[in-house]
Amino acid sequence: MTATVNVQDLYRRVSSVIPPVEWATFTDDIEAIWRLKEQRNAVVLAHNYQTPEIFHGVADIVGDSLALAREAQDVEADVIVLAGVHFMAETAKLLNPAKTVLVPDPLAGCSLAESITPADVRALRAAHPGVPVVTYVNTSAAVKAESDVCCTSGNAVAVIQQVTRAWGVNEVIMIPDEYLAANIAAQTGVRVITHPGRCEVHERFNAGDIAELRDAHPGVVVLAHPECSPEVVAAADHAGSTAQMQAYVETRRPARVALITECSMSDNIAARNPDIEMIRPCNLCPHMKRSTLAKIRHSLEMLTYEVTLDPATAAGARRAVERMLQIA
Ligand code: 13P
Ligand code: SF4
Repeated sequence: MTATVNVQDLYRRVSSVIPPVEWATFTDDIEAIWRLKEQRNAVVLAHNYQTPEIFHGVADIVGDSLALAREAQDVEADVIVLAGVHFMAETAKLLNPAKTVLVPDPLAGCSLAESITPADVRALRAAHPGVPVVTYVNTSAAVKAESDVCCTSGNAVAVIQQVTRAWGVNEVIMIPDEYLAANIAAQTGVRVITHPGRCEVHERFNAGDIAELRDAHPGVVVLAHPECSPEVVAAADHAGSTAQMQAYVETRRPARVALITECSMSDNIAARNPDIEMIRPCNLCPHMKRSTLAKIRHSLEMLTYEVTLDPATAAGARRAVERMLQIA
């Protein structure tokens, strides 16, 4: 794609999910963003929960948290704009200390990242000496720096299996998402010590929602994110990260599917697969929704808001993230 992007070509990607009248309000920002990306030698990385005009309209790289971390390692541009939430931008920065990493809205947080502090991790270590600490990437760099290794929802099973083998233990401290930890414990048989953090989006779903969906939409295939409670995961047909849900839909091609996760996920898959009926029992993530085209444009115009990390914290966090990337 060049700076002279053809917005009509881009519109074909999203015409099944964005009406023309709404698209018309986006085109000025989209053209400006493509121009600015060229001028700044910048790339836009977008998480699967970004709205379709961002995901399909301006992103160069899209994916789940694991894919974004992996891709951030190989970016050659001078500037990375992370359309997602703050912890994702921090991960991109710690893997690219020499690059300018921007987040379009510095207040784009995460209820999981906010649930835990470095002191909490130190207290867990002190209470459970010798037990490895596996930390979800949805945490601050300071929390990652206190950890042995990170994981995402896409590689948590592989990370837990590798860590327990390497350390010769059958128990891990897995923080801060108590639901993800319980779901992974059930899948691996490993004893998990956790922390009472939850995703404010996924904790709102319950097993009753899934029973209602199945009654109202016979034959629907239900896919749940592992940040949902164990009862929701048990009631679903399959659980996986956002990229794993997308792969399931695009390879198995169920006639109708319900994704128990954030709203934009269904829109982004529907845009590419108009033949699949997407039932949309979604909850919005207010943090993900802080990214807008206007803020991405502003970010590239002003080179703001730059993510900076204290070097010692970055070094500790990088070690935990790189260990994860070596495993999975
Ligand atoms: P994944 O995209 O890694 O599945 O994560 C979901 C999420 O909630 C990110 O904030
Ligand atoms: Fe955090 Fe949940 Fe939003 Fe993801 S969806 S950023 S885990 S609050």
